[in-house]
Amino acid sequence: MKNFNDSVIYQIYVKSFMDSNGDGLGDIPGITSRLDYLEKLGVNYLWLTPVFISPMNDNGYDVADYYKVDPSFGTLDDLEHLIFEAKKRGLGIMLDMVFNHTSTDHEWFQKALKGDPKYKDYYIFRKGSGGNPPTNWISKFGGNAWEYVPEFDEYYLHLFDKTQADLNWENEDVREELYEIVNFWLDKGVSGFRFDVINLISKPDEFADDEIGDGRRFYTDGPKIHQYLKELNRETFGRVADTITVGEMSSTTLENCVRYSHPEEDELSMVFNFHHLKVDYDEGDKWSLKNFDFQELKEIFDHWQSGMDNLGGNMALFFSNHDQPRALSRFGDDKNYHKESAKMLATSLHLLKGIPYIFQGEEFGMTNAYFTSIDDYRDVESINYYNILKKQGLPEEIIIKILQAKSRDNGRTPILWNGEDGHGFTTGTPWIPFSKMEGINMEEDQKDENSIFAYYQKLIRLRKESPVIQKGSYKIIDKDHKSLFTYLRTLGEERILVISNYYGEQVNFDPSKYDLPELSRENYKVLLSNYDQFNLEKEKISIRPYESLVLSIEPHK
Ligand code: GLC
Repeated sequence: MKNFNDSVIYQIYVKSFMDSNGDGLGDIPGITSRLDYLEKLGVNYLWLTPVFISPMNDNGYDVADYYKVDPSFGTLDDLEHLIFEAKKRGLGIMLDMVFNHTSTDHEWFQKALKGDPKYKDYYIFRKGSGGNPPTNWISKFGGNAWEYVPEFDEYYLHLFDKTQADLNWENEDVREELYEIVNFWLDKGVSGFRFDVINLISKPDEFADDEIGDGRRFYTDGPKIHQYLKELNRETFGRVADTITVGEMSSTTLENCVRYSHPEEDELSMVFNFHHLKVDYDEGDKWSLKNFDFQELKEIFDHWQSGMDNLGGNMALFFSNHDQPRALSRFGDDKNYHKESAKMLATSLHLLKGIPYIFQGEEFGMTNAYFTSIDDYRDVESINYYNILKKQGLPEEIIIKILQAKSRDNGRTPILWNGEDGHGFTTGTPWIPFSKMEGINMEEDQKDENSIFAYYQKLIRLRKESPVIQKGSYKIIDKDHKSLFTYLRTLGEERILVISNYYGEQVNFDPSKYDLPELSRENYKVLLSNYDQFNLEKEKISIRPYESLVLSIEPHK
């Protein structure tokens, strides 16, 4: 299997990227109109969030027909045109396959509801006991994970919204249907796929109450998961050379991720995991307020980087996506050090071992939404938790503060292409308000020769030109440092040192304390920095607020 370590992937949240017809919703022709911009950035693949027919209860992650493009996004012709135009510019299109569940509007589920036994067995229906659901599992979006169907006196499983019914992967017919879908899209010329929550597809033989948790330990990285992924690979993309695949792995383990992504396992090209994005959860609770724990962030990065490095797995590197608040507002300082912290986070992430992802707008420093009213939110999870927290008696202003920090809508506000009305995104009314943070947009950023965009271009180029970034081993330096995340990448004689300050105070760094050569122009060359001036003559360097410094260590020493 090909390894994609020289590539950078750009995620497009279609609904919020670019609206071509003034209906307030981003669409496929809108993406096509921005391909030159993406080519200029230098990325290799575009991952599009689901574009299939959907009632949009979970913005397309509730698919009602996997073969058809939702009219709000365009037509199949539009998608084929995008694939063609993207290819011309050296960009591959990756589609998002949601195979853990379908929308309850899907024909299969509708037939199941009518009692057709073939289709009932496409899903997971079970009897309750004593008026209770089959198990006490909690849905990822809040509430019990089973929905009652009075006609059958049975419940169906939905790990997400009740309009997202879990598929029964035990059923061979289901698996074949899904493989046919992947093959259909491969034939249309797509370059790869992202598989949504794919490590949740293998459910246990017995459904039992979880006395110590929300049920996830029973279905996460489930009993047949590796068997299913090998089969999916063999029956679909494994037949087409160089297809790129990434699996979204919820609450997973390192051991499983190595297997999911090791080239010899023939499962997937790489994996996302989310452990590093829980460092601002208070005792595991997302819906709480807590500053991020920097030490924990480094511990987690170190565990995964070293583990994947030693065991041969392949990691997708990301800080932001459509399910996360914006990293710049979360781990940086979007007010006082907007540019510096945007570039620092990019450096610190992109030079790790793995394949970096840029989430739309990150390349010019988009921030959280800062909505002040529940009326601005659209996300099903955010609205569910707003109601849950209300019921728990939390005051409105605290709930809004929590949503401002944690809601998925933070990453879903429309792209701010310019500072005009509609921000170059739409001539109509956007489906969700624009971010309330003033003064940030793509055109404004690009006026500056030190733009965040230009910095991303450099980072991408650096990866492409540098085997040590693509393949080098990883080692953390001074793991306990209170504000720096420093690591060394090594390939043969080549070594690069990446030093990033995650805080607003200047600190000193002296490499000779860590068995590294003393600072001097002979020993080190500056490859990249997010500040204009630096001085390598002193024995220790001052690392300024949110500074990132990338040094190559000269081999002759
Ligand atoms: C994934 C998607 C998310 C969606 C969920 C259910 O986590 O990224 O947006 O809500 O799966 O499909």
